[in-house]
Amino acid sequence: MSVAPYLRLQKAQTISEHMEQMIARFPEQLQEALGLAESIVYHKHAHVLRQVLISGLGGSGIGGNFVQELVGNECKVPIWVNKGYNAPRWVGRNTLAICSSYSGNTEETLSVFEQLTPTGAKVVCVTSGGQLLTRAQAQGFDVATLPGGWSSPRACLGYSIVAQLGVLRAAQLISKRIFRHIEAARKLLVREQDDIRERAQKIAGFLAGRLPVLYCADNREAVALRWRQQFNENAKMLCWHHVLPEMNHNELVGWREQQRNMAIVWLRHRDDHPRVAARMDIVMEIVRYLAGASIEVYSRGKTPAERTLYLVHLGDWVSFYLAQKNQVDPVEIQSIDHLKAELAKIR
Ligand code: F6R
Repeated sequence: MSVAPYLRLQKAQTISEHMEQMIARFPEQLQEALGLAESIVYHKHAHVLRQVLISGLGGSGIGGNFVQELVGNECKVPIWVNKGYNAPRWVGRNTLAICSSYSGNTEETLSVFEQLTPTGAKVVCVTSGGQLLTRAQAQGFDVATLPGGWSSPRACLGYSIVAQLGVLRAAQLISKRIFRHIEAARKLLVREQDDIRERAQKIAGFLAGRLPVLYCADNREAVALRWRQQFNENAKMLCWHHVLPEMNHNELVGWREQQRNMAIVWLRHRDDHPRVAARMDIVMEIVRYLAGASIEVYSRGKTPAERTLYLVHLGDWVSFYLAQKNQVDPVEIQSIDHLKAELAKIR
């Protein structure tokens, strides 16, 4: 197999145990994060908040997608997730702007941060350090400081989601209910741990050697995005996802010929919109004969938070077992490191 020249490929015997520990600690991380969320220091803003902007990339950006999905309807003001270099023009003194970067050194997030400063927005940074922390402190902005020392921001998703929710709570934009649901999710994950790992191993066996295609309901996209990102970064695989009903209006037509190298995963929740569920059932019948394989994966748990975090954890384990099958180190992200190094040479 030929690979990109800058990769110093590691073989199976050097596969890090570290990611396994980080994933296994996810329920514990949620517990720690719940304590952290309560202790967030938030100085009241002089202006009424009318919108929330959450900026971040990769493992630090996806926390914003989860926050939007979990409390978007409850939040008193709309939540906008931003994954680029620029802050939207509408940002002003009525905006709560959360800058999320685990390392604190992600250039896109730093660029947004710089643009926020003159707008009068209420800026809160969620980070473990780096430039973001230094600059936030210099400006006197509030910071939700995450525990440092984790090698992979993507393994800090629990901190990221709960800390961002903590900021929304401190700003009195949401109630405390979500934290009770996260605590229930934590208990569910502890209770089901062995079963989740067993289920993940089976799913990984089913996906190994194939291109995963993930489909889910549009209001549950963050989970599919997380699975996709974890397959990319941990298992070093390509993967794509789409949501229903939108997929029914375009991508469905692309399913015409046999695609035996593809495996479809239907990420489903018992409370999916009934018409979306009906669409999934019909589309599954249409495409199952074309794809190499097709499986349904239902979430478990009573509340949306439980169901979401259940699937997050399951997907993290699937990505870990896929890394084992692919004989790659789930921790290393040499491609991203290489890109960042090359970018640093261009000013
Ligand atoms: C690495 C990872 C990446 C980073 C991204 C942004 O584990 O998941 O997706 O999250 O490159 O870096 P941070 O999170 O430090 O802002």
